[in-house]
Amino acid sequence: MRLIIVGTGGMAAAHAQKFGEIDGVDIVGATDLDSGRLKEFCDRFNIEHRFASLDKAIIWGKFQAAANVTPDHVHYGTTMALLKAGKHVFCEKPLATDFEKAQEMTDTARQKGLVGMVNLSYRDVPHIHVVRAMIEGGKIGVVKHVEASYLQSWLVSNAWGQWDTESQWLWRLSKEHGSNGVLGDVGIHILDFISFGIGQDIASFDCRLKTFSKAEGDRIGEYKLDANDSFAMTLEFGNGAIGGVHASRWATGHLNELRLRVHGDKGALEVVHQPDKTVLRGCLGEDVHQAKWHDIDVELGHSNYRSFVKAVGRGKQMEPSFEQGARLQRVLDLCLVADNEGRRQTV
Ligand SMILES: NC(=O)c1ccc[n+]([C@@H]2O[C@H](COP(=O)([O-])OP(=O)(O)OC[C@H]3O[C@@H](n4cnc5c(N)ncnc54)[C@H](O)[C@@H]3O)[C@@H](O)[C@H]2O)c1
Repeated sequence: MRLIIVGTGGMAAAHAQKFGEIDGVDIVGATDLDSGRLKEFCDRFNIEHRFASLDKAIIWGKFQAAANVTPDHVHYGTTMALLKAGKHVFCEKPLATDFEKAQEMTDTARQKGLVGMVNLSYRDVPHIHVVRAMIEGGKIGVVKHVEASYLQSWLVSNAWGQWDTESQWLWRLSKEHGSNGVLGDVGIHILDFISFGIGQDIASFDCRLKTFSKAEGDRIGEYKLDANDSFAMTLEFGNGAIGGVHASRWATGHLNELRLRVHGDKGALEVVHQPDKTVLRGCLGEDVHQAKWHDIDVELGHSNYRSFVKAVGRGKQMEPSFEQGARLQRVLDLCLVADNEGRRQTV
């Protein structure tokens, strides 16, 4: 498969590495509006064809598929151009900035018979597939209650860089730059982690968003700092289970942590995913009576990047699909309404 990478910023390195490891994938080109970044990236990953714009790459045309690693608000225009040119697309999350655009991207991929997948990267945590299989296998009975969080601390820690001087962090803080704040950045991951993990769609929810003041006049240079920093939701799922989920960039002491606890009427499961380790624990069978928990071994081996390559090879859509990206986008849109109106939303 001949692949190009669209957008050569921070996350693009992961795409070059992961796709570069897959037999049969040739990363033949890349494009970025920033010529310095494009050159550095292509030199680093030995990519031959460099394009100053996606239009130029499409006119050249010698590729079947593209990894879209541009900022959130750029996903729609670039993905639509790629689909119209007959290219399969592996798009970064969130699929778009609103549901209508996400749905249009989904419909266009379907109508043209092209693979459209969205990189909900925590599907690559194998533990969440074990959670899903155990729940489907009845190991914890009927799911009644769910707790989940996604905690980051880049507004207080310099471990990932300097948020107040680097553009890759500043656009994430600004609605004008197409960011939907922590909700669009990592909220989408935790909502997918929960709904995929427990095998239930979100049926209804309340949501509270919060943007803290963090610079004089809430602005740094061209960036108005108005995107949400934290959210808290209460949710009901398709099977009637309820639960809470929250996320923040102000979670001091947590660089990047996803946590999911699922409680059923016969047992419970907990996954904690951190940059250097992931743990899955269960409280199962007779241990329920004493609330004793045990670690559960998990075999490695899931990758969205590999699924995309397989999907293109077989000409058959795989998960996480644009459909799922659009479904989640609808929830994100309704979160803004729930916060504005202080009212429960039904999906
Ligand atoms: N799946 C994950 O876990 C994960 C992690 C980090 C980032 N992301 C997503 O990846 C995307 C990129 O994030 P990032 O951190 O790499 O951002 P970034 O700002 O570091 O890089 C984006 C790059 O896209 C380029 N660009 C902008 N418009 C373009 C266009 N029209 N054509 C070509 N290039 C263009 C920019 O010049 C920049 O180099 C975002 O959507 C982000 O939400 C996903």
